[in-house]
Amino acid sequence: MNSPVFHRSTTAPQDADVLVMFGATGDLAKKKLFPALYNMALHGALNVDVVGVASTKWDHEQFVNNAFEAIRARVENVDEKVIAQLDAKMSLVVGNYEDPQVYKDLAKQLEGKKTPVIYLAIPPVLFEQVTQGLASVGLAATARVVLEKPFGRDLKSAVKLQDSLEAVMPETQIFRIDHYLGKESVEDILIFRFANSIWEPLWNRQYISSVQITMAEDFGIEGRGAFYDGVGAFRDVLQNHLLQVLALIAMEPPSELTSQYMEDEKLKVFRAIDALEPHEIVRGQYVGYLDEKGVAPDSTTETFAACIVHVDSWRWAGVPFYMRTGKNLKETVLEVVVEFKQPPRMLFAETQAGSPNVLRFRLGKNDGVDIEFMAKAPGDKLATVPVQLNVEFSAALGDRQEAYERLLRAAMAGDHMRFTRIDSVLETWRILENVLNNPSPVYPYFKGTWGPEKVDELVPHGWIEL
Ligand code: BG6
Repeated sequence: MNSPVFHRSTTAPQDADVLVMFGATGDLAKKKLFPALYNMALHGALNVDVVGVASTKWDHEQFVNNAFEAIRARVENVDEKVIAQLDAKMSLVVGNYEDPQVYKDLAKQLEGKKTPVIYLAIPPVLFEQVTQGLASVGLAATARVVLEKPFGRDLKSAVKLQDSLEAVMPETQIFRIDHYLGKESVEDILIFRFANSIWEPLWNRQYISSVQITMAEDFGIEGRGAFYDGVGAFRDVLQNHLLQVLALIAMEPPSELTSQYMEDEKLKVFRAIDALEPHEIVRGQYVGYLDEKGVAPDSTTETFAACIVHVDSWRWAGVPFYMRTGKNLKETVLEVVVEFKQPPRMLFAETQAGSPNVLRFRLGKNDGVDIEFMAKAPGDKLATVPVQLNVEFSAALGDRQEAYERLLRAAMAGDHMRFTRIDSVLETWRILENVLNNPSPVYPYFKGTWGPEKVDELVPHGWIEL
């Protein structure tokens, strides 16, 4: 495997001149990509044709009707004029991905196009075959290929996949999706930290006692049993979404706002994290998981994962980063809670003890920031009471864009900023390698709880709730 060296380029990348979607009749296309295309068209940002590729033998009508139904089900107040614009741009190539003919048909359809973006909304096991098919008809020479996560299922398979991609195209043409990097709320961490000077003096081991990252979902695997059972919570979200969020919280400011320098800084964070040991993690499985369709009756796949991560750098040595994620938990929450140390001399110890200052990034729906600090409790005494400052970004700033629209736009503009780089991806697999190879016991938990009780042993003072 080559190491991914990006050089400063003096020329801006070409805009894509066509968008191809493999898996055009599949679930991801329906749930995320078609609504994103609609929004792009609505915002005047879709100026190219969209060519679907699928093995389902649909005709044009079936293809577009399915796409438009998906859009109408997910977007409010659909503008039919925009749907008509989309209709005029869309076409479908049908064929089996094992059959060389489908790539020839696609190449014919793309004749004259110089910079296609080819989105692989297909199961990862097909990535190798499809990219080789693209190469066989010359499409890998200039196309940008967008791959959905997970990139591999462990360190070894990620290296193997990268080798097979590198055999047909350079890293600059590979766009690895982690859709959390497309979320405006997640990007806000960068602005919060590096566009304000008030936090920086506090953003280190002197003032911060712990960081807690939670991605909880109050729903289950939603019919994705066959996929999920081979994956589990560590591979599905912790290796990617949660570690990416951690990197944004922990990284040093990049010397410039380029994807290369951003990734360089995130890479340093991942390199500073030792491989997790079995005693640093807790795995759980909700009661009822084994009855889900597509799940093996004796499955030990985790639907809940928690861990403690140490970022062994000058800034963070000694500060525990706790992470937890799970399906069928009590609430749907995506947040980072930064807990500050208490003052060195506790003048108001009677009321203040156990109430540190806390900063919370809310990254899910209704994203925003909350800060909890001490105020004087009303009355005679000099006593403290916690109060909060809250910002609700949509109320303050208006609507946010959906992640997939932003990711598609970035790939079409050739901007790697919102995509993961191979060296970082491999580091994140290294961090999980031990625990994936030596799975610890999986503890049951009931739906609607915060996971197995065992997780409390990981966080001595408990998970912070505001
Ligand atoms: C996906 C996972 O990557 O992210 C899903 O495969 C998970 O299991 C989803 O539900 C969560 O995404 P979001 O944007 O709703 O937080």
